[in-house]
Parts: sequence; C-alpha cells; structure tokens
Amino acid sequence: WSTTARKVEGRLEVGGVLLTDLVAEHGSPAYVLDEADFRGRARAFRDAFAAYDVFYAGKAFLCTTTARWVAEEGLCLDVCSGGELTVAERAGFDMSRVGFHGNNKTPAELRRAVELGVGRIIVDSFVEIERLAAIVAEPGATTRVMVRVTAGVEAHTHEYIATAHEDQKFGFSITSGDAFEAVRRVQDAPGLELLGLHSHIGSQIFDSSGFEVAARRVLALHARVSEELGVTLPEMDLGGGFGIAYTTQDDPADPSQLATEMTKIVEHECRALGIPQPRLSIEPGRAIVGPSMCTVYEVGTVKDVELDGGARRTYVSVDGGMSDNIRTALYDADYSCTLASRASDAPPKLSRVVGMHCEAGDIVVKDEFLPSDLAPGDLLAVPGTGAYCRSMASNYNHALRPPVVAVRDGATRVVVRRETVDDLLATDVGAVSG
Ligand code: LLP
Repeated sequence: WSTTARKVEGRLEVGGVLLTDLVAEHGSPAYVLDEADFRGRARAFRDAFAAYDVFYAGKAFLCTTTARWVAEEGLCLDVCSGGELTVAERAGFDMSRVGFHGNNKTPAELRRAVELGVGRIIVDSFVEIERLAAIVAEPGATTRVMVRVTAGVEAHTHEYIATAHEDQKFGFSITSGDAFEAVRRVQDAPGLELLGLHSHIGSQIFDSSGFEVAARRVLALHARVSEELGVTLPEMDLGGGFGIAYTTQDDPADPSQLATEMTKIVEHECRALGIPQPRLSIEPGRAIVGPSMCTVYEVGTVKDVELDGGARRTYVSVDGGMSDNIRTALYDADYSCTLASRASDAPPKLSRVVGMHCEAGDIVVKDEFLPSDLAPGDLLAVPGTGAYCRSMASNYNHALRPPVVAVRDGATRVVVRRETVDDLLATDVGAVSG
C-alpha cells in the first residue's frame, strides 16, 4: 500500500480521499495514484543515491504529470520508445537529462533523439551503432552514448523479465567479446561520445548478488577498455530492477541500503582493478511508482464453484481485469486485495478475483481471503498496481482503459482520463459515428 492509505471505519482512504467518494466522482475501475507517495519514493532514491544520477524508468508508468513530478524531484528520465520520448518532450522535460533505450530504435527515432539533444542514447546492436554514427556524421551533430552489455548473470526472477543471461535479445555479450568490439566501434565513430557501459539484469529482483556480479563484470570491461584502448570510461549504469512487496512475503531493500551496497561493491572493485571510479547511475521504475498506485474495482458478480474433492472456491468478478492488469496472466504475478467500501465482520472466505474478459486466465488476484458477505456493488482495491499495469494496459474485448486519478491532501485530479467509446473507435476507419 502507498504510505497515505488507511482504513476509516472499514472504508479505504488514499491521499485523504475515500475511494467510495473517488468512484462516485470518477467511476470504476480507476487507478489511484498517491502523489505524496510517488514523490516520496522518488526523493528517497535521489537522496540515497545523491552522488549518482537516478533515472526514473518511464516504462513502469509515464504520463506528462508524472514526468513533471520526476523533474521536480530532481531525477532524470529513462525512456525506451519514441512514444515515451514524446511524453517527455510534451512534459517539457530537460532532454539533456533523458536516457533513450531500446533494442530496435528506428532511424527516425534516433534522429529525433539526436535533434532533441537527448542526454544519452544506450546502444544495443552493431547495426544501431552504424545508424547513429551516420546520423551524427552530419556537420555539428554529436551525441553521448552508453553501450548496453550483457553481464551473463542469472537474475532470480521470471524468465520474461530477466535480461542479463546470454540467450536473450538485449545488449552486447561481455563473454563473447562483442561488448568490447562495440566500445571500440563507438570510440572510432566521430560524433559519438562514449560515456560508459550499461547493464540491466532484470526486474523485480530482491537478491543484490546479481547486481554485485554484474558490477564486477562491467568494471572488469572498464579496466580492459582502459588498458587496451587507453580510454577511461567516465560512467557506469547498473539499470533498474529493484523488487517491491506485492504480498507480505516479499521483503524489498530500501534505497539507502541499496546505495550503500552498490557503492561498496564499486569502490572495492575499482580499487582491486586499479581504475578510477566511474560515476554511477541507476534506473528504478517499479520501486518508485509500483506501490504508489492501487486499482479500485466494483464487484459485479459472486459465484461459488465446486472444486475436485468437494472444496469450493468463490469467484468474484470485477469490472476490469487483464486489460488493466496483465501481470497475473502473463507472469503468474501475486497480488492481494481488500474490501474498500465498507466494514465487514463476516468470516473470511478464500476467493479469487477475476476480470470481465472472455478468457479463463483473466485473473486479477489468484487467492485472497475476502469477507463471505461480499456482494455486487462492493468496491475492491488492489495495491501495488503502479508499475506495468496502466503502461501495459490494452483494449482487449474493446475495454475502455481506466483513468489515472491522482490523490493528494483530500483532493483528486485526473491525470489520465478514462477512455471513451469514441477513443476506441477513432482508429476504426469504417465506424459510423453514433
Ligand atoms: N532499465 C532498463 C534498461 C529496463 O529494461 C528496465 C525494465 C528498467 C530500467 C526498470 O526496471 P524496474 O526498476 O521497473 O524493475 N513488464 C514487466 C517488467 C519489465 C521490465 C522491463 N525493463 C513486469 O510487469 O514485471
């Protein structure tokens, strides 16, 4: 839960706003964004990593309002597509504080990034180095580059979000020598200024040993570059991936603990390798916005189903589902939820919260003990939906994507409005206006 969430006589309040009031005004489902919590987490990272640059990873959740909050709290911004770059631009984000990622940026996107003066472009393939070199070959053009490397680490997380083992699409392998070759080519390209190496080992990670191994391998390459090319790389980025608690079993590290551990590793390794310490940067997304949002749904139906062996399971259907949170279906992610609209003394019953989509895997919360008197019209709130929920939302079954409603000091502010049927049909060229 975000820091301002609390129950008032059974009713959930976030940012001083009762969710019953929020839904009465803005409808359901809705993502509820706790502004103070978001800013607080951003600040905690900035303060803990005060000697470094902290890039908020926009892929977790980005809109112009949050981009402005990120700027106001003194963080930089990581974007990974032309679309995210446009949001940054519209928000008036200082482009020199933007990092541009992606394994298949188009030549047009690269050109735009150079024209906008993006602070760093993280290159991911030899083809891209060539493309970028051609763009900056034009008189006056120049850009700062980081080389994304694959540190060869097995991060302990879901296969789809682990990114530092060899057999996946991102980065240049350190082991095969490609990473060194990429550094050489960037170094040889006039107009490309090499800042350093970038490693991102995966997402929703709790065990810091993965970061430690990655840092060691990346710094070893820094040392090789210094020795063989006579170049001191001024920076190193260790990416994001810091886990958050989705259920009470998860135990995330806090930013200052992470900062202390990372600093220790980097200092130690640099001393051992006899190289100067590069300036470090990190890219947390989930750890900032994840806990700042919850999703509020209205219960539509409640159904008891008999399982093999005679046990029963209660299926609680809500007015959203995999179109606003794909993570349970896609990664088998664990979420929890609570009755948000009233108090209940009814005994708890093991329930499964499901969506309204035509798919059996459309599960929001796999298992939760909910009051046995749960009924249509009740509101349920699911915490921890700030990261990779709205940003991965879809219009599956022609669902309208919910709004993002910011709450602060008892007031609500819509920062992304609810989609309308007109939005939905805007790209359907055959649609006749109603
Ligand atoms: N930096 C890079 C280069 C990344 O690829 C990512 C995430 C981040 C930073 C931010 O990672 P975070 O701190 O948010 O874990 N859709 C998946 C997560 C995909 C992460 C992709 N890259 C999910 O819902 O779990």
